[in-house]
Amino acid sequence: MSAQIFKTIDLFAGVGGIRLGFEKSGFQTVYANDFEPNCKFTYDLNFKSTSLTVKDITKPSQQNFTSVLDDVFKINYDVLLGGFPCQAFSIAGYRQGFRDSKGRGNLFFYVAEIIEKTQPKAFLLENVKNLKSHDHGKTYKIIKQTLENLGYFVKEEVLNSMDYGNVPQNRERIYIVGFKSEGQFAKFHFPEKIERTIQVKDLLDEKVDQYFYYENKPIWKKIKNFVFEENTVYQWRRVYVRANKSGVCPTLTANMGTGGHNVPLIKDHKGVRKLTPGECFRIQGFPKDYLLPNIAKSHLYKQAGNSVSVPVIQRIAENMIIALQS
Ligand SMILES: C[S@@+](CC[C@H](N)C(=O)[O-])C[C@H]1O[C@@H](n2cnc3c(N)ncnc32)[C@H](O)[C@@H]1O
Repeated sequence: MSAQIFKTIDLFAGVGGIRLGFEKSGFQTVYANDFEPNCKFTYDLNFKSTSLTVKDITKPSQQNFTSVLDDVFKINYDVLLGGFPCQAFSIAGYRQGFRDSKGRGNLFFYVAEIIEKTQPKAFLLENVKNLKSHDHGKTYKIIKQTLENLGYFVKEEVLNSMDYGNVPQNRERIYIVGFKSEGQFAKFHFPEKIERTIQVKDLLDEKVDQYFYYENKPIWKKIKNFVFEENTVYQWRRVYVRANKSGVCPTLTANMGTGGHNVPLIKDHKGVRKLTPGECFRIQGFPKDYLLPNIAKSHLYKQAGNSVSVPVIQRIAENMIIALQS
């Protein structure tokens, strides 16, 4: 008997980091959505089937427009995937319904509604670590209760990419996994820690354009007197430069490369420079052959920072397959 292929829908898909991890584990993607047109350039360049549907998950169906919920309602799938955005929200007390006046705008409830209406076998949701402690734990309590009330068995764990994904990045994220079957749920375990063998220097570009170097840039006057060492990643923190002693990159963020938020710095044989977008993607565990489109670098930095550490996702997905097949 051939192994069953489980089908996934990729919500808040961004540039497909979660999809990559799941496909590497044998899942097949049958729907992908994000409302950011710039993500589509990157997504479609890398995934030849199931291109990104660009629409806002909060928009209801209207004439000539089908909502995301209606799209997925027609699709046969097994597992829902979603790294929903970490909005600064408090949802405690706002749970009369998925689209009640107060809860509206909270993207988690759109995910919950899709789960309710389409009843997947399992789901993986990803978010910032603070989701668990936000509002003294009330926000996460409501998220978990909402999912359990839909008939799912749910567990969550905060995993740091540098400990669980063999990537040189200090990135703590919460992963929420749910199964409809109690038996499958009991079989699922989050991955164990693994040794980290990959270092930032292993992921650097061979040739880097002068654009990325700081010498002669206005900020250079402020940072040139700090001591820079090779194999260390630095962050410019407005008035000082902070070295990341652990030898890994600090969390890559969606706002790096915009406003006062700077991309992490390194020193190489030519001088002090910021990481390139390609390096940021690789520090997230994207493969070397992942392609980047010719769009503004600020979009690429945002996409890398918004994404996930692919190997961590892959390890969770591998354990989900074992549970689903049980
Ligand atoms: C944290 S990122 C997830 C990135 C993704 N996991 C990846 O690997 O690239 C959240 C994504 O949600 C998308 N998003 C935010 N609001 C949305 C909405 N109302 N409808 C659809 N997508 C939305 C953003 O454009 C962003 O790409």
